[in-house]
Amino acid sequence: MQKSVSIKDLSLSFGAVNVLENLNLDIGDGEFLVLLGSSGCGKSTLLNCIAGLLEPTGGQIFIKNKNVTWEEPKDRGIGMVFQSYALYPQMTVEKNLSFGLQVAKMPRPEIDKRIARAAEILQIGPLLKRKPSELSGGQRQRVAIGRALVRDVDVFLFDEPLSNLDAKLRSELRVEIKRLHQSLRNTMIYVTHDQIEALTLADRIAIMKSGVIQQLADPNTIYNAPRNMFVAGFIGSPSMNFLRGEIAGRDGHPVFVTNGVEFALDGYGASEALQPGRKVVLGVRPEHVAVNAEGAETHQATVDIEEPMGADNLLWLKHAGHTLSVRVGGARRFAPGTAVKLSFDMGLASLFDAGTEERI
Ligand SMILES: Nc1ncnc2c1ncn2[C@@H]1O[C@H](COP(=O)(O)OP(=O)(O)OP(=O)(O)O)[C@@H](O)[C@H]1O
Ligand SMILES: [Mg+2]
Repeated sequence: MQKSVSIKDLSLSFGAVNVLENLNLDIGDGEFLVLLGSSGCGKSTLLNCIAGLLEPTGGQIFIKNKNVTWEEPKDRGIGMVFQSYALYPQMTVEKNLSFGLQVAKMPRPEIDKRIARAAEILQIGPLLKRKPSELSGGQRQRVAIGRALVRDVDVFLFDEPLSNLDAKLRSELRVEIKRLHQSLRNTMIYVTHDQIEALTLADRIAIMKSGVIQQLADPNTIYNAPRNMFVAGFIGSPSMNFLRGEIAGRDGHPVFVTNGVEFALDGYGASEALQPGRKVVLGVRPEHVAVNAEGAETHQATVDIEEPMGADNLLWLKHAGHTLSVRVGGARRFAPGTAVKLSFDMGLASLFDAGTEERI
């Protein structure tokens, strides 16, 4: 992997509070990397260090193999797009786009060429003469992206660029950002707390908790093989079902037991780690439990609540002293109180050590 941005042993403290400690992260050339985590975990702090808006307490940052740790933001080859747009209110869209280039003394024909290109890519041509107050939120955010685009930067940094928009605009602009990346192939580092944005946009997701990257992997791996219970619970809606229990042996095969109910673990790998007596947590996503399927090992359960969602129907079931969420097709309806049979797909399940909460 050709590196675009490399973060080495980065630390940052605000007074006595250590927000980042010895963080390491390599981002590939042309990669779309998403920093995902809940509020206050240090996403913006990390992005601002890369941008040069915050001075790290320790460590180094390289962009295109150049040590930029002490460079000014303008000399780093980065363009930043904020949640708050940060447009100049008294300037037209065109002026907002050209201002930085004029300050940098770029020749006018080149400026015009770049604005025309950005306006075409972002479909803001008809808006160039307007002021930001005459634009919708989505249009303002497009202009803010345009301002990074005209600078022809190596690396785009986005800090929650869509979170001020309503749900419909958010999903539209999300697709546009993806299209932008597909055509430009710039390196993009994108901060969000929205798991859907992370899953849909990222080549790789770095999922953070308290300033520490918990897992760095492609969305599919993060979703299907979460490294620990934090990652497993953070990604997926509704959340993965967690059942506490322990491993037991049946006829030489490991099984999972919770509240006296047994689950065969035939499809699960890592069988040598499944020692009888080990306290574990079984994690199963709502779509990995089949209802009234033929053949497989089945468990009795009762429908408690049904939440029809159009394409899907979400069932909340009572099973072995737990409440389970299970996703079925929208056309399959179950009245509360209905007895059903559940089959668990252990090939897609996760087992975690109950003490360390790490994946087994
Ligand atoms: N200037 C500051 N002085 C002191 N503490 C700060 C400062 N800026 C941020 N922090 C603290 O650092 C931690 C990380 O903040 P950061 O802004 O990076 O979080 P975040 O992950 O971007 O959260 P959000 O999703 O809410 O934007 C938080 O606990 C925050 O309170
Ligand atoms: Mg933030």
